[in-house]
Amino acid sequence: MRPELLHDGHGRRISDLRVSVTDRCNFRCQYCMPAEGLAWLERSELLSFEEIERLVTLFASLGVTDLRLTGGEPLVRRDFPRLVAMLAQVEGLDDLSLTTNGFLLERDAEALVAAGIGRVNVSIDSLQRDSFFELTRRDALPQVLRGLEALARHPEVHPVKVNAVAMRGFTEDEAVPFAEFARSSAFQVRFIEFMPLDADRNWSPDAVLAGDELRAIIDAVHPLEEVPREAHSTARIFRFRDGRGEIGFINPVSEPFCGDCNRIRLTAEGKLRTCLFSLHETDLREPLRAGASDAELERIVREAVWQKELKHQVNEPGFRQPARSMSAIGG
Ligand code: 5AD
Ligand code: SF4
Repeated sequence: MRPELLHDGHGRRISDLRVSVTDRCNFRCQYCMPAEGLAWLERSELLSFEEIERLVTLFASLGVTDLRLTGGEPLVRRDFPRLVAMLAQVEGLDDLSLTTNGFLLERDAEALVAAGIGRVNVSIDSLQRDSFFELTRRDALPQVLRGLEALARHPEVHPVKVNAVAMRGFTEDEAVPFAEFARSSAFQVRFIEFMPLDADRNWSPDAVLAGDELRAIIDAVHPLEEVPREAHSTARIFRFRDGRGEIGFINPVSEPFCGDCNRIRLTAEGKLRTCLFSLHETDLREPLRAGASDAELERIVREAVWQKELKHQVNEPGFRQPARSMSAIGG
């Protein structure tokens, strides 16, 4: 018998799980990590592949259909394609995707495709080598673009999206080049507003370059028209009026989309987070390692999910930034 599907206390059905497989990263993006890195988790603190598989199987039995693997940088976890192959077998999942900075994609694209990855998002914040270096603190744009090309040789991975974090004073100059990249390639480009999840705590409302502002910059050069939004989509999609592709804007700060949020997150050390901005998390690793049954884990999960935050408070006066940065949460 199918158990009751996962719901939160605000009537939202939870069907999308993001699993961070490591807190480590080979980049140091300014909007995420400090230049010197962070104190990494010990290997024994990370969920093993078998533990991740067990939890994902449980979530899938409760109605999670979409699974995204993130980090830190997921491809720095040893043997990561083996985990993908394990999760591709989990019954009930119909979307298995990956978010990566692309640095190791040239090495891993083939193995990931063979393992059964369905879709990939690659984070690229600038198409200019020096600006990319400035923002990620790694001179790695050519390597990342080679990774993107390696992926493009596998048309079964579709769509491939390129995500750029938008920051005031930086991304204005990137907007038109990214639009032209979207118009001349098969990659779907999306800008994501800078959120207060940076380890350096330099975020301020003034540092956010709103999606609407970027759209106006692009529209002035390549006119756009909006495409109707799909349910649970976080992006507003616009097509170029001349028919040459589209471009998206993810506006969590200027236009929060919490109302139909269907997501939860599992950190690399097995904490369940019901919002990017949660101040509270629920440990699943301890009960898992203490021998909890599926029924016990299910009860813990249902209780935590029931408490899912109604919405984030980023635009409210008393907002408190979570202790974890994006790299330790998982985008
Ligand atoms: N605000 C918005 N997006 C962020 N990312 C990392 N930190 C932030 C932030 N502070 C993005 C990465 C990647 C995804 C995992 O999250 O660029 O695309
Ligand atoms: Fe690494 Fe992604 Fe954070 Fe950049 S945003 S430092 S690539 S985890």
